[in-house]
Amino acid sequence: MTYKIAVLPGDGIGNDVMDAAKIVLDKINLDAEYLHGDVGWEFWCKEGNPLPERTITLLKESDCCLFGAITSKPKEEAAKELAPHLRDTGLSYYSPIVAMRQLFGLYVNMRPCKSYQGNPLNYRDDIDIVVFRENTEGLYAGVEFHPVPDQVRTALSVHAKMAAFKDVANEDMAISCRIFTRKGCQRIVRAAFEYAKKFNRKTVTVIEKPNVIRETSGLMIREARNIAREYPDIEMWETNVDAMAMWLIKNPQDYSVLVTSNLFGDIISDLCAQLVGGLGFASAANMSESFAVFEPTHGSAPKYAGQHKVNPTAMLLAVKLMLDWLGEKEDARALEQAIATVVKEGRFRTYDMGGTSSTLEVAQEVANKL
Ligand code: IPM
Ligand code: MG
Repeated sequence: MTYKIAVLPGDGIGNDVMDAAKIVLDKINLDAEYLHGDVGWEFWCKEGNPLPERTITLLKESDCCLFGAITSKPKEEAAKELAPHLRDTGLSYYSPIVAMRQLFGLYVNMRPCKSYQGNPLNYRDDIDIVVFRENTEGLYAGVEFHPVPDQVRTALSVHAKMAAFKDVANEDMAISCRIFTRKGCQRIVRAAFEYAKKFNRKTVTVIEKPNVIRETSGLMIREARNIAREYPDIEMWETNVDAMAMWLIKNPQDYSVLVTSNLFGDIISDLCAQLVGGLGFASAANMSESFAVFEPTHGSAPKYAGQHKVNPTAMLLAVKLMLDWLGEKEDARALEQAIATVVKEGRFRTYDMGGTSSTLEVAQEVANKL
């Protein structure tokens, strides 16, 4: 069967690293049809929609998606860059990657952070962490208010703690809801334990803050404890997110599989990425049972756009995750091996690693090793 893969390079260096991915995919000779989709800033400015309907249709017709990077800007700045005929029409910018995660129910965001030997940017050489970030709810649910409508205030006033805000005007208050569901907690924790079981990992660390955020973090921890009982061979550790940041700097080699909610996972996964060379090495798989989007976790770095200067490794590792998800295990293994070899030999390195090679030269070298 020929795979249908949606290719969404997006903005800035998303295009540069997608060129790198194509070099490697061509070498692998994967039996696939690559379908280009529009996404990102350009389409926000021109059409008032960073994720056009035609792209959603394309995604629905694809087996999975390879995503580059997108530029996102705060509300007011985004509004200013709209084409003149679209200004003041009530459009507001949203992040297409967050929208895709929610639209397709891609509840797992899996982010491997592994130190490849010989990488001069490694914090230590013995780090092998995989972050499982809940990807559709939590503080990213998008339920936010400013100004806060009267109805919302009235509803919230059933809570005694709201009395502390009684003298604050609606427009002087903003509320972002942190929404957890039992199902949401269960499925992300289960994904982490299943991964640990499959790859023989000894521990799963659940990262929350139940001592303060009692209800949402509390729900996650309780569900995690229940699920952990089904996996007697895997130890579950519980750590508060603040302490976790500290422990990850102190003893990153002690940790294996991490699982947490959306925003905490966003933050912790950047921290973990930096331990193994920064965002140039950080890939992510956004997955459900039936669809997945693979991406490097870096941004669009507009100042380097089109220069083929940035490190393609994160994108190549995202391709590896895609091959795994498609079931092309041998190609996935070979690709990771090729990336590891190129890092180790150190003959082709982009500027972030102290080298002078281009994005495409590094990708070509990885392809040569395949
Ligand atoms: C990530 C990114 C995104 C997020 C941004 C680009 C919306 O930081 O994938 O980690 O916050 O999830
Ligand atoms: Mg992030």
